[in-house]
Amino acid sequence: MRVTIGGLTLKNPVMPASGTFGLEHSRVMDFARLGACVTKSVTPKLRTGNPTPRVCETDAGMLNSIGIPSKGLRHFREQIVPAFGAWDTPLVVSVSADTAEEFGQACAELSVPGVAAIEANISCPNLEADGMAFAMSVRDTVAAIAAMRARTALPLWAKLTPNTGDIGAIARAAEDAGAEAVVVANTLLGMAIDVNTRMPKLGNVMGGLSGPAVKPIIVRMVYQCARAVRIPVIGCGGIATAEDAIEYLLAGAAAVQVGTASFLHPRAMIAVIEGMERYCAEHSISRVAELTGAVVVDAQLSERALRHAIQV
Ligand SMILES: Cc1cc2nc3c(=O)[nH]c(=O)nc-3n(C[C@H](O)[C@H](O)[C@H](O)COP(=O)(O)O)c2cc1C
Repeated sequence: MRVTIGGLTLKNPVMPASGTFGLEHSRVMDFARLGACVTKSVTPKLRTGNPTPRVCETDAGMLNSIGIPSKGLRHFREQIVPAFGAWDTPLVVSVSADTAEEFGQACAELSVPGVAAIEANISCPNLEADGMAFAMSVRDTVAAIAAMRARTALPLWAKLTPNTGDIGAIARAAEDAGAEAVVVANTLLGMAIDVNTRMPKLGNVMGGLSGPAVKPIIVRMVYQCARAVRIPVIGCGGIATAEDAIEYLLAGAAAVQVGTASFLHPRAMIAVIEGMERYCAEHSISRVAELTGAVVVDAQLSERALRHAIQV
């Protein structure tokens, strides 16, 4: 079940999605079973988060506008990082920031013993670019990743937003700027309205859609990114079962993250790992990594035809 993501070896390809997992889960699962632990994004500035309500259910998914409440880097270094030291599982720290410079500073301050890799949540607004997410533009992606690469020797993963035109070009920009992996992807921007009150269901009006509803979109993006970069792609969006995870691997992911499913079933990740082990045994697959990119697509289908296929 072992996979290698850049310089980091994971005992299996399953890990939590940032913001959907915390130390509380240790009451229902052994973190030593996971490929990695991924923390909620932390920011250099203290933040209280968005107005409530911050979550609502949708058909086959949910919307959230949590807004990344943060107790800052010092609290994270002193309280959270040591607590995860209780498990022999790599700790991936998700960082978020308002500017490229601040991203760099956060990486420097979080490059401490106990942290195995940094996941850069560049799906958040860049305050130097009208609040557009960094990963909506090649230029801002390069600026943020390059600023971080200069300040840390740890493996650096870039978490992309699906709210962009050409995600393959963004993935390539992250790779060129020094990312060791891309995580595809964060939530899709959405909105829901209560027809009785006529008010948006989220206090922040709009929010991020996640869960099974987004899976076909993100599988497509993983497929595109895997063809665009040489670094590993980590798939994230709507994974609830082992079959979902395997679909992502076949599309080109080297590993996967599970988010919303853990709210329904806190032990969902364990079920995904056990189901993948069973699938490998039943299909005589000796190494799970063999599945990465193993989707069978007609070899005659040219790049151009594939590009056209996504436009219909
Ligand atoms: C309540 C909630 C909080 C989230 N917080 C973060 C976060 O802090 N940083 C981040 O990069 N992604 C965050 N995400 C996005 C998830 O990590 C993941 O990319 C997304 O939910 C898609 O995966 P899923 O369909 O398995 O949930 C959050 C998602 C949810 C539902």
